[in-house]
Amino acid sequence: MPTYRIAPSILSADFARLGEEVRNVVRDGADMIHFDVMDNHYVPNLTIGPLVCEAIRPHVQVPIDVHLMVKPVDRIIPDFAKAGANIITFHPEGSEHIDRSLQLIRDHGCKAGLVFNPATSLDYLDYVMDKIDIILIMSVNPGFGGQSFIPEALKKIAEARRRIDESGRDIMLEVDGGIKIENIAAAAKAGADTFVAGSAIFGKPDYKAVIDDMRAQLAK
Ligand code: DX5
Ligand code: ZN
Repeated sequence: MPTYRIAPSILSADFARLGEEVRNVVRDGADMIHFDVMDNHYVPNLTIGPLVCEAIRPHVQVPIDVHLMVKPVDRIIPDFAKAGANIITFHPEGSEHIDRSLQLIRDHGCKAGLVFNPATSLDYLDYVMDKIDIILIMSVNPGFGGQSFIPEALKKIAEARRRIDESGRDIMLEVDGGIKIENIAAAAKAGADTFVAGSAIFGKPDYKAVIDDMRAQLAK
C-alpha cells in the first residue's frame, strides 16, 4: 500500500481560532496542513498570506503545504519559505517562467510543485519533471471550499500517476477539491497519495472520526 497523507485545508477552519484548529486537526491525525492562498486576482477570493503561515508554524510539527492561487507567484515565494512553509505549489498560469519559479522554491529549501486546474493540460510537466516534488490535481475550479468533486479529475490523476511512474522519481500526487469519505478511495485508486479535504473535515465537529473514516476507506 502506498503512503497515504491527509492534508486538511484550513480554508474551512475557524479563522478566529486558527492556532487551536491546526493543533486539534494534527492531534486528530492530519499528516500535513494545506494552506490556501488566494489573491482576488488569479482567483475571485482573498485569503491569507505569509504572516498567517508564520503565526501557525509554532503550533504544528507537520509540513505546511502552501497552495498559491496567486499571480504573479515569484515575489511571494521567499516570504512563504521564511514563514515556515515546507511545500509550495503554484498554478502554471500564475507564473511567467515556470522553470524559474520551481527553481526559486527549491532554492529556498522547500519542495516544489505545479497545480493543474480541471481544464489545464499536464503537458506543462514535460520539461520540468526533474524540478517537481509534488503534482496537485484540482478536482474543483480553484477559489472556494465546499464545491463538488469533478469526476473527470480521476482520469487526470491516472495520467499524472503514469507520468510519475515513468519518471521513476519520488513525486507526491495530491488531489484537492470536494474530497470526502465517499470519494477518497476512488481518488486513491486512480493514483493519488495525498488528499486535501477542507469542508469534509472542518465542517464536522469530530475531526478524528472523519480522518479515521478516510483512512479506513484508503485501507480497503
Ligand atoms: C480550493 C482550495 C481547496 C479547498 C478545498 O480552491 O484549493 O484547497 O479549500 O476545500 P473542499 O475540501 O471543501 O473542497
Ligand atoms: Zn488548495
